[in-house]
Amino acid sequence: MASAINDCRPGQSLRTHLRAATMAAHDLLDHAMQAASGWQTREDYARFLSLQHAARVPLEGWLAAHAPAGLVPPPQTGLIARDLAQLGMPAPAPAPLFTIGRPAPGSALGIAWVMAGSALGNKAIAKQVARIGGGAWPVAFLGDDGAMAFWQGLRARIERPAAPAEAEGATRAAEAVFAHFLAAAAAPEGVPA
Ligand code: HEM
Repeated sequence: MASAINDCRPGQSLRTHLRAATMAAHDLLDHAMQAASGWQTREDYARFLSLQHAARVPLEGWLAAHAPAGLVPPPQTGLIARDLAQLGMPAPAPAPLFTIGRPAPGSALGIAWVMAGSALGNKAIAKQVARIGGGAWPVAFLGDDGAMAFWQGLRARIERPAAPAEAEGATRAAEAVFAHFLAAAAAPEGVPA
């Protein structure tokens, strides 16, 4: 049976393919993050930000080292650290290294898609955080306009079919990013609240 990686239908856009291939992983991650922290209280929200910071530091490092300029989303860990400082929390230690071995065609694109696409979820979470926190909790990260602007620019690149090798590389890399976030969410004890 063909795997999801090789199941890129003719004419299907890379975005549609990536979303289908990682839908289950995204659902798992959504649940894992709600279980690990959520954002129902100020302490939950600080833990959520700590988890995000820990997971994103090595990913931003990977992109800075391996991705071409157009595929490097604006770093967000500084914004997260600023939110944490406003909540009176120090930035947490980074999560373990992120690696996918030797970069392949599509690797940077897949990682950039996950990082940039997460701004869509962040936008939805920002609305909830504004409501729950009565507008008093800092949202430099969740409300980051730079991330949304990068996302809009990336769309032209992913809303069209990709060559099979690029689609496969992007899918493997995107799956690795979701696995990395899942590992961070599964070990919240490593993330001080
Ligand atoms: C914390 C819980 C999370 C929630 C509640 C959430 C929610 C969402 C929502 C509402 C969307 C938009 C769906 C749509 O409009 O079709 C979305 C898309 C997405 N999210 Fe999340 N998300 C979460 C965590 C994450 C994380 C941690 C990442 C990765 C770092 C991530 C990556 C993505 C990607 C790649 C997309 C799809 C972009 C596309 O449409 O091409 N999400 N998420």
